[in-house]
Amino acid sequence: MQFDDTLKTGVEHIDDQHETLVDMINMLINAKSHDTPPETISIVLAEMGKYVYVHFRDEEKFMKENDFVGLEDHRRIHESFEEKVLEFSNLFNQGHTELLDDMLEFLSNWLVNHIQGDDLRMVKEVLSQGN
Ligand SMILES: [Fe+2]
Repeated sequence: MQFDDTLKTGVEHIDDQHETLVDMINMLINAKSHDTPPETISIVLAEMGKYVYVHFRDEEKFMKENDFVGLEDHRRIHESFEEKVLEFSNLFNQGHTELLDDMLEFLSNWLVNHIQGDDLRMVKEVLSQGN
């Protein structure tokens, strides 16, 4: 996965956090291709889960501060992604390591679609409100 200009919203702290998320997904992709033990992958997955949580709360704070009307819908999208990450991590930790490929594909696709769709639309609207 590459963090390029097509993933930039123009809000620096959000972009920095998105870049960190891309880095974390890449760490998982590399870990997978280097036959890293599942215990180590579990740790990275947990770290990523924590970072997703911090990032989403930060983004929601940004929306709230800017009176973004779509906040509740956007928050629901975040929460369902967090549930999905948690659900996968639990399965992986229970020994379903074969799910990693599907998960990594889901994670990267979801992130790209979310940034290029929901996040970009949100930032555009916030900036056009002149806040
Ligand atoms: Fe978002």
